[in-house]
Amino acid sequence: MEQTLVIIKPDGLRRKLVGRIIQRFEEKNLTIREMYQGVMTEEIAQEHYAHLKDKPFFANLVAYMTSGPVVFLLLEGPDAILLVRQMLGATNVLHAVPGTIRGDFACSTTENLVHASDCQENAAIEIQRFFG
Ligand code: TYD
Repeated sequence: MEQTLVIIKPDGLRRKLVGRIIQRFEEKNLTIREMYQGVMTEEIAQEHYAHLKDKPFFANLVAYMTSGPVVFLLLEGPDAILLVRQMLGATNVLHAVPGTIRGDFACSTTENLVHASDCQENAAIEIQRFFG
């Protein structure tokens, strides 16, 4: 069993896609261990995306992530980390193929609806950050 951290980003709530996104994870038989809605502070958003702090889109990304409430999910299942990443689709909106969450719903690379941990090390850090 593996656990991973998912965030439904502010546009997911604004566009009222929370239920449809969660439904996909449930349909894939992933277990929701914990879940809550909250607002990311600028400090936490900067920490969460620290690996991108030198990118030109960083300030915009932090502004977006703190622009409204988000939903945090602690998901569990076999190979959950890679499985959920595949269900999200590619980061670049033009590369996110239909059938993935981003491929079906996202219209922008920045406002791409969902975050999920990309490896075991980051999953442990992110689960601690938001559910610790
Ligand atoms: P990243 O961690 O590279 O991707 P992922 O979310 O798929 O793990 O990037 C984090 C977020 O930064 C990404 O979800 C959207 C935003 N972003 C941009 O706005 N522009 C970009 O060119 C990239 C690469 C990411």
